Amino acid sequence: MDYSVAEFFNGKYKVLITKDEIHRKVKELAHKITVDYKDKCPVLIGVLNGAFIFMADLVKELHIDCEVDFIKISSYGNAKISSGKIDVLKDINCHLEGRHVLIIEDIVDSGLSVKFLENLVSTQNPASLKFVSLMKKMGAARINFEIDYLGFEIPNEFVVGYGLDYCQKLRNLPAVYLMN
Ligand code: PRP
Repeated sequence: MDYSVAEFFNGKYKVLITKDEIHRKVKELAHKITVDYKDKCPVLIGVLNGAFIFMADLVKELHIDCEVDFIKISSYGNAKISSGKIDVLKDINCHLEGRHVLIIEDIVDSGLSVKFLENLVSTQNPASLKFVSLMKKMGAARINFEIDYLGFEIPNEFVVGYGLDYCQKLRNLPAVYLMN
């Protein structure tokens, strides 16, 4: 089935989290990080592709020095359920030893991606490692993983927009929508 951005703007699908709600939450999370990481110059690592919009909005609200880098992993491809096997498609380029690292995710579903990233980054001996995610699906976890800076707990439904895709499209929707 094909979906178009226009259908979402025309109100055919339900908004789960509005643009304004996202904006307020991003500011709130950024404020907490600003306080907690004062004088620490953290490295923020965005998990591509989904986190690109959230990451961009978040760093603009941080009132501290920071660096950014990206990693691209994939467990879903175009499927709706994680295969459980995770591949690194683009690795982190900076050295993380002794650095304060924040991993930035758009969504935590099964928890397999964040667990994989924790193991991967830990091998580089960072000074600290914490996780930020805009959303976490309730009741979907295959691994219980505590997110340090969490935006919204959402129902276990397929969502799109604000970075999240359906078959690589719909990432550019400014709000988070329910697909069904
Ligand atoms: C999505 C999302 C997270 C991951 C969460 O990425 O961006 O990285 O799945 O799922 P999990 O908790 O079950 O591991 P996806 O592999 O779909 O790639 P994308 O970000 O490019 O859409």
